[in-house]
Amino acid sequence: MAGFIKTTPLHETLQLGRLTLPNRVIYSPLAGCSDLPFRRMAAKYRPGLVYCEMVKMEPLMRGDPGTFHLLDYQADTHPIGAQLCGSNPALAGPAARIIEDLGFDVVDLNCGCPVDKVTKDGSGSGMLKNPERIGEVISNMVAAVTIPVTVKIRAGWDEGNINATTITRIAEEAGAVAIAIHGRTRAQAYRGPANWDHIKACRDVAKTIHVFGNGDVFDADAAQRMLSHTGCDAVLASRGTMGQPWIAEDIVKASQGEMVRPRTIEEYRQALLEHFLYQVAYEPPQRALISMRRVGCWYIKSAKGTRDFRHKISRAHNIDEVRELILNFSFDGDDAVVDEVDEASLTI
Ligand SMILES: Cc1cc2nc3c(=O)[nH]c(=O)nc-3n(C[C@H](O)[C@H](O)[C@H](O)COP(=O)(O)O)c2cc1C
Repeated sequence: MAGFIKTTPLHETLQLGRLTLPNRVIYSPLAGCSDLPFRRMAAKYRPGLVYCEMVKMEPLMRGDPGTFHLLDYQADTHPIGAQLCGSNPALAGPAARIIEDLGFDVVDLNCGCPVDKVTKDGSGSGMLKNPERIGEVISNMVAAVTIPVTVKIRAGWDEGNINATTITRIAEEAGAVAIAIHGRTRAQAYRGPANWDHIKACRDVAKTIHVFGNGDVFDADAAQRMLSHTGCDAVLASRGTMGQPWIAEDIVKASQGEMVRPRTIEEYRQALLEHFLYQVAYEPPQRALISMRRVGCWYIKSAKGTRDFRHKISRAHNIDEVRELILNFSFDGDDAVVDEVDEASLTI
């Protein structure tokens, strides 16, 4: 039948090698964002898989403590994936092995990062210019580990060089179990809408490799639309996870035909407070302050007074000021709030 796309509902399990994901909603690696506190918040809403932010192969191999810190995770947060960034096939196997030894369930290869500092040595989206190298790196990772290997790419370097389907075939041949397609080019960075046709094109050429759709999944409705448009095997939520750690729960509920209820200001406040407590438990106060200036701007975007709240939290001078703002900031028409925050019930 013309136009019919076979799909599997997003609340169903997905098999990645020997690993069974509980559902098909996956949280993207987000450099500078998907740290341990972020992932602790995410885990409460049971995504199928959560990736840590990317780490570079070289410092990982050197035993750099900062790199290992980025890979901290809680023993009860599974399934969890790590992402490697690098273009040297000789390092790929040993680096993947370190990830497996750390207890990760999945190891991914970053072929999407658009930052010049990363692409200049051919890593990140620089790899899109050298698809054969992608195959070599993946093959070495697959040979070195028993956990599933995945890869994350963009549609291509620019509009004149779209090659996601070629890379899908190469990744499949090299033994990757899944490929995430971000429907933007490197030239686009994060501008403009993602083109989901590229995800569909990769789904059409994939034989055994699973295709994860990525780009502009900001709510449950968008996830369903991406699924219908592309036939992808899973959706990868990225910026849509920032300030709404529950997006996986929403998508799974919608997939099961349940109503998705918008969160109240008080639920946002409670979640932000919880994120805050995880952050101060994770890093020294000055670092936590810097993190919270960013994180505080993700939550609570759509009430009156939110602009003022974001302005204040992004300029807070110390961590006590952040706590005070979260607990006591009065959004318009939303005064008696302090007592409703149940700080004692939160386990750190
Ligand atoms: C702040 C930020 C950090 C990111 N870090 C990574 C990363 O470490 N690895 C990666 O593969 N992609 C990274 N990305 C890309 C996202 O995972 C995702 O592909 C992109 O945001 C498109 O999805 P979206 O439109 O749903 O946000 C990052 C994106 C942002 C905005």
